[in-house]
Amino acid sequence: MAVVVCCRSDYPLIHMETTLQHVLAAATAQRRTFAIISHPDAGKTTLTEKLLLYSGLIRTAGMVRGRKGGKVTASDWMGMEQERGISITASAMQFPYKDAVINLLDTPGHQDFSEDTYRTLTAADSAIMVIDAAKGVEAQTRKLFTVCRMRKIPVLTLINKMDLPGRQPLDLMTEVEQALDIQASAVNWPIGSGSDFVGIVNREDGHVRLFGRTAPGGASKVTVSELMLAELGASGRVSQDTLMQLEHDLELLEIAGNQFARERFLQGLVTPVFFASALTNFGIESFLDAFVDLAPAPGSRLADLETGGEISVDPIEAPFSAYVFKLQANMNPKHRDSTAFLRICSGRFERDMVVKHHRLDREIRLSRPHSMVAQERSRIEEAFPGDIIGIINPGIFSIGDTISVSGGFNFKPLPQFQPEIFARVRPSDVGKRKTFDKGMAQMAQEGTVQIMRSLNDGDQLVAAVGRLQFDVLQYRLRHEYRVETILDPLPYTCSAWLEGDPATFKAPSASMLVKDQRDRVVVLFGDTLMKTIGRDRNPEHILRDMG
Ligand code: G4P
Repeated sequence: MAVVVCCRSDYPLIHMETTLQHVLAAATAQRRTFAIISHPDAGKTTLTEKLLLYSGLIRTAGMVRGRKGGKVTASDWMGMEQERGISITASAMQFPYKDAVINLLDTPGHQDFSEDTYRTLTAADSAIMVIDAAKGVEAQTRKLFTVCRMRKIPVLTLINKMDLPGRQPLDLMTEVEQALDIQASAVNWPIGSGSDFVGIVNREDGHVRLFGRTAPGGASKVTVSELMLAELGASGRVSQDTLMQLEHDLELLEIAGNQFARERFLQGLVTPVFFASALTNFGIESFLDAFVDLAPAPGSRLADLETGGEISVDPIEAPFSAYVFKLQANMNPKHRDSTAFLRICSGRFERDMVVKHHRLDREIRLSRPHSMVAQERSRIEEAFPGDIIGIINPGIFSIGDTISVSGGFNFKPLPQFQPEIFARVRPSDVGKRKTFDKGMAQMAQEGTVQIMRSLNDGDQLVAAVGRLQFDVLQYRLRHEYRVETILDPLPYTCSAWLEGDPATFKAPSASMLVKDQRDRVVVLFGDTLMKTIGRDRNPEHILRDMG
């Protein structure tokens, strides 16, 4: 090797560096960092649990749920008693599967839907979109998919709950294509549906997997018998009708379906589709195998050089770098502290390493890092590109901050997400105004809510993508600043950033012009119809959906 011959006395050092470089390259190639995007109830929690079951991290499914089988939500960390399951405040879980190391990012949904959900997606290299076979593409899935598209994150589709009566698989494929404007390519196809869902066939090689009975809730792995498609009729497991339907569907797909090419998937042009039942474990193992094969390992990330221009930060060639994608305060009563979650973009992380904090222009020591494995916060000694680490935050981190060994650049700023709920907030006790203002400034900096100001009177209002953000704001103002607040909701449900002169903008009724934290003009609308009217009436202006 060229490096070894340059100078004898350098040998041990260079040899060590080469070895470290190999370790880094191998660890990076193993990483699969992804998030699950879905509408509430589509089966995200169940799938998460089954991924852990098949990875061997848990032996019996049934732990992810909280009290009495009820779902635990991220709002539980807000001072309520906790008996938490896995997916709650664990911003990311890491588990091994075969040769891969998988990082699953938590994307809270439902009443916990917030800007954090969106920001978390920026830390993912791929996403799994879970769709309920009976419901098709739903609202929250659509919103999250839009963020994936914007970030060019490749998406795999899992059509879940095939064990229940649902829509026709071909209809579901069409709906994915039309609702999300992406090509869908079926990797496998279901054999039967509802109570007759007995297996899946791999379209490429005709390999069939027939599933045995599972324990209630699919607590343990399902037994599988493998055969070829040509042998299915003789297996005695499927009716003549099911066989005919299957042959018909496969033929149609052959003629009219989209070809799958990994390159096109990585570019976000096509989504591979899989059919499964997370509850009964049917199709989960082969999905996980395909996911590990198809999903990308961490790649380069673009950054702005402090001296101007851009660089692409290579995960292996560049020394350690990372950025903050999420901040969380007082998440666990056992650890009363605030945590900054960082996504490692390049190089090897070691505990106690000293790095540059680019925005503050100072050096900091990264002590007490932790990762999440199952329910436990565990101390980590080292981590690699794609990994998520939690660092105790003594108020020095903001969303989007870059840290690195070399310094001199900043990863592209995180986009500002389009708020959908708005309110005015004020202290109940006017005497606490100063403390209130201080708290609000801090919350805005941490990205808890967005603060906007009316263009008319400069009045302050708060904006968010989910109600939880307002709850967190009020909770933190009460507990950290001792300020009780009154929140008056405003009647706007959508917004857009305005490009063009606000003075000549013909605002539709029930709308309001405000400025965001970066002094850009935003229009708030009463509903989407008003937004459409706003667009139609102002052809000279542009209304942009993501800031
Ligand atoms: P979420 O995290 O996306 O919100 O969904 P979650 O996994 O909690 O699933 C929502 C409901 O759908 C749960 O039922 C779950 O058991 C069920 N489910 C998930 N995947 C499948 C599947 O493949 N087949 C069937 N038949 N059901 C599925 P629940 O009644 O709300 O909760 P539980 O009482 O079953 O725990």
